[in-house]
Amino acid sequence: MTEIPLLFVEKLTNNALLASFSASISEIHPIFLSPPTREKVSIGEVMSLKTHWEDVYTNKSADEVSWFQPHAEKSLSIIERLNVPKSAHIIDVGGGASHLVDDLLDNNYNNLSVLDISAAALKTAQRRLGDKATNVRWLVEDVTQLSLQKHSIDVWHDRAVFHFLNTELERQQYVENVLKIVKPGGYVVVSTFAEDGPKECSGLPVQRYSAEGIHDEFGSPFEMLGHESEAHKTPFGTEQKFVYCYCRRVAANQEPE
Ligand SMILES: C[S@@+](CC[C@H](N)C(=O)[O-])C[C@H]1O[C@@H](n2cnc3c(N)ncnc32)[C@H](O)[C@@H]1O
Repeated sequence: MTEIPLLFVEKLTNNALLASFSASISEIHPIFLSPPTREKVSIGEVMSLKTHWEDVYTNKSADEVSWFQPHAEKSLSIIERLNVPKSAHIIDVGGGASHLVDDLLDNNYNNLSVLDISAAALKTAQRRLGDKATNVRWLVEDVTQLSLQKHSIDVWHDRAVFHFLNTELERQQYVENVLKIVKPGGYVVVSTFAEDGPKECSGLPVQRYSAEGIHDEFGSPFEMLGHESEAHKTPFGTEQKFVYCYCRRVAANQEPE
């Protein structure tokens, strides 16, 4: 199989470097925009987080991690219910080596992006998909420091990433990104550990939420359409309680520039 390019965007978190790359990166990949206008979470923090996740996906096989699902049934059924066209731009943020992309391709969705801080995770998914991987955009980037184009996404999907954002600043950056990147009228599907779920994931502390709690983080520009619970069976035979909250982005105002 020919190597499918991963677009490494996390290297460009330094603003000066970003400025010099911004023109060329838009040419390489039209969904990228100009650089973030201010330094956010520090580069050191991003790198240690990246090291953690690269280690996980380098040292464990994809079905040895607690969040593994052979099919992302709940996510797929929620996305199907949104009734978007098959050409809708769907992004799986923190998608890792998830099989959601396989399930979406099998259901004829044809405008897909998978973004993760770990290149090793995305390479695992690419290898599994073989030639089909060429039909997907693969982006190595930190979800709190995105450079995706304004209003470029119809459906934003996140399973088990938002819950790692333990500071208000990180959550605020995430929501600002969603507000900027998701089209008005687009959809946001976020799944986290539930209030009675585990306190840690991959050895890192997490926040636990109710569906209302997730919606509160996103605020009034998002209308909650529904929520679901999942008792996820890990490959080790234990159970993890998840909550899925799905919302429509209703307001075009309150957008960061
Ligand atoms: C618990 S795993 C879930 C993976 C996938 N969503 C699934 O359901 O199988 C969390 C994923 O988020 C990624 N991740 C963690 N922090 C991230 C960040 N700040 N930006 C982008 N990806 C991140 C990790 O590399 C990992 O793939």
